[in-house]
Amino acid sequence: MKQHLILIGMTGTGKTTVGRALSERLGLPLTDTDRVIEQTTGQSIAQLFREQGEQGFRAVETQVLHQVLAGKPQVIATGGGIVLRAENVERMKRHGWVVCLQASADEICRRLAGDTNRPLLQGDLKQRVRQLMLERAGKYDFADWKVETTGHTAYEVASMIEQRWR
Ligand code: S3P
Repeated sequence: MKQHLILIGMTGTGKTTVGRALSERLGLPLTDTDRVIEQTTGQSIAQLFREQGEQGFRAVETQVLHQVLAGKPQVIATGGGIVLRAENVERMKRHGWVVCLQASADEICRRLAGDTNRPLLQGDLKQRVRQLMLERAGKYDFADWKVETTGHTAYEVASMIEQRWR
């Protein structure tokens, strides 16, 4: 059953912040899959990538998504790469309304400048963001709704989503 509100989108599009605002507005709990991954493994995302590689991280991410989707209705903020596995996409479509947050590459770089817990963005931030956007073109297209976040506060974005949800 489609019971959750699931936020997907490139890294830095504000899934966690908008998720928090939405959870307050809708009176639903918020689960951030990256935080659940850190809690269950006892490791930071950066450590997990270092010790298990990206595929190790993706395996844990897939397990965590499965568990979270089996729980009570909630707002779910996902990691940007959750869409890379087809089984995750199928499950998200089946169990929730999927909202894709979008932002320009410049805006993403502005938001993530100085971040150290995102292993896929190490090196030249602008170049890495552009490359990820290219690699992932089309991967977020299955979303039920798409929302542009550039130029909007998290509360404005949450309010736009809330209006469609209710
Ligand atoms: C990733 C995005 C991160 C986190 C991990 C991998 C990605 O989450 O899951 O670093 O592949 O885009 P955010 O989307 O919250 O940055």
